[in-house]
Formats: sequence, C-alpha cells, structure tokens
Amino acid sequence: MNMKVLIITGSPHKAGTSNTLVACFMKGAEEAGHEVKIYDAARGNINPCLGCDRCGMAGDCVQKDDGNGLLKELLSSDAVVFATPVYYFTMSAQLKTVIDRFYARNGAITRKHMKAVLLATAWNNDDIVMKGISTNFDIIFDYLNFIDCGRVLAKGSGTVSMMPDLYRRQAYELGAKIGG
Ligand SMILES: Cc1cc2nc3c(=O)[nH]c(=O)nc-3n(C[C@H](O)[C@H](O)[C@H](O)COP(=O)(O)O)c2cc1C
Repeated sequence: MNMKVLIITGSPHKAGTSNTLVACFMKGAEEAGHEVKIYDAARGNINPCLGCDRCGMAGDCVQKDDGNGLLKELLSSDAVVFATPVYYFTMSAQLKTVIDRFYARNGAITRKHMKAVLLATAWNNDDIVMKGISTNFDIIFDYLNFIDCGRVLAKGSGTVSMMPDLYRRQAYELGAKIGG
C-alpha cells in the first residue's frame, strides 16, 4: 500500500548526520512508492506551546505559525518519522517544540494509530548515550498509540564522516519497509 509519510527533522545542520539518515530513509520509502514530505523544525516558523489550553486538545492552536498546518499534514499522513540529533541525552529542542504542539490535536492523533519511526544520532559511542531518548520515545509512542516501526540509534556518529555505514543502511531499510 502506498502511504503518506511525514518526516519531522530537528537539526540545525542541513547536511548533518540526522539529515543524512533522513535522506537514506526517504530513498527507501520513495523507491517503495510512498509519498514523503519533510517538515524542518529547525527552520520552520514554529513556536513553543503556550499552555493556554484554548485548543482544548481538540482544536486549532491560537498561534499563527506553522503549527495548525503541520498538524493537518500529520493527521493526513499514515506514518511519522522523527529525526533528531541527541542533545543532552534526548531529542533537540527544535523537535520537542513540534511534539509539544501535538497537544492541540492530541485526541485525533491518538485515535489514528499512526506508524512511527525514530532516527537519532549522537557523538558518543557508549551504552548510555541512547538510553534517555529511547525511553522518551518508548513512552511518547505508547501514549500516542503509535505503531513503532523501528529506530536507527546512530551512536558514535558525531559528524557525517564519523557515522558508520550500518546506520545509513538501517535507515534505508526502514524506509523501504515502512509500508509492510
Ligand atoms: C547542544 C548539543 C548537545 C549535544 N548533546 C549530546 C549528547 O548528550 N550526547 C552525545 O553523544 N552527543 C551530543 N551532541 C552531539 C550531537 O548529537 C552529534 O554531533 C550529532 O551527530 C549532531 O547531529 P546533526 O548533524 O544531525 O545535527 C550534542 C550536540 C549539541 C550541539
């Protein structure tokens, strides 16, 4: 089945490690016939949630930025991919800002049972480097009723040249298999 896939990226480095994984994932997904769109949270016009609750978790956000349009895009997609560098053991603030804005459509998102993927990169190569972000996304995916379709946890990947090819292959495979 051909699917609509929304990738949300959270790195300030356009051609950095997490966006390298995005390119690999996208290649796999597009070759498999899926329609892929990217929202660049590091360059988009997206502000933090105000916590005003005027959305009631089920309506438009009062903010006039990319938020409402992005949520429409998310709700019309079959799968969502989160791509981020590890910043202090979790996702970047750029990506977290977008996820907090999910609040305005929290109910609709949880009812959708979307497929979801995490692509994360980090400089360090030790065992704890992916622990925080993995647990964080375990809980987020579970809470939002996302179907976990896999993760690339690219440790020892502080720069594009440092990143082992294994992770590029894993990202490509996840893209190729996202419809399955
Ligand atoms: C603010 C900041 C925080 C970081 N925190 C961590 C960290 O906790 N652990 C780690 O291994 N690398 C950390 N890094 C390194 C990045 O995760 C790593 O270089 C990554 O490959 C950058 O991804 P990008 O090229 O997609 O931006 C940090 C980098 C920055 C700028």
